[in-house]
Amino acid sequence: MRILGISGSLRAGSHNTALLRAAGELLPAGVELELFEELEAVPPYNQDRDHDAPPAAAARLREAIAAADVVLFATPEYNGSIPGVLKNAIDWATRPAREGALWGKTAGVVGASTGAYGALWAQAELRKTLGVAGARVLASDLPVARAHEAFDDAGRLLDAAVAGRLERHLEALVELAQPAPIAA
Ligand code: FNR
Repeated sequence: MRILGISGSLRAGSHNTALLRAAGELLPAGVELELFEELEAVPPYNQDRDHDAPPAAAARLREAIAAADVVLFATPEYNGSIPGVLKNAIDWATRPAREGALWGKTAGVVGASTGAYGALWAQAELRKTLGVAGARVLASDLPVARAHEAFDDAGRLLDAAVAGRLERHLEALVELAQPAPIAA
């Protein structure tokens, strides 16, 4: 099973990107995680440019999501919501309506912020948006509060309890992505 990780932060020292890298170390057997590294190149959504030949980075985003079994988003919280770059990427990934890369895709959300609540509002907003986009969204959140204290210099999670919650979050996400058993 392939998970595509998308961090909503563009900065090199991002705690959210570190959280996705930590997730990559805690995956259930048989699961691999690859990061989408081109978020900054995805242009502002413009319906006039969304035709047979959309901008290259938007096309690559759509292809990367389509090729994954699961998308795991890690979002910072900016002013109580998700960063504009992340919302923009989701908008590209939802078109054409009901046929976009996110339609029916299993998705999960985690988030890190330097505040006390671990980007909880942003995670709730992101789950709402993904639901509207037609994704199958894991209902739970994974907040990492005081993110500047949560990782070591190499970006590894310092708190074993957070690592344990992340591991269970990943297990639940992979379970959600399994095909439903055929009824007898
Ligand atoms: C923030 N930050 C922030 N944190 C929070 O808990 N709630 C918020 O509403 C905001 N708002 C906000 C707005 C803007 C424009 C910035 C730049 C930052 C702090 C934010 O959580 C912190 O910078 C995180 O470390 C950002 O995530 P990355 O870049 O480390 O992944």
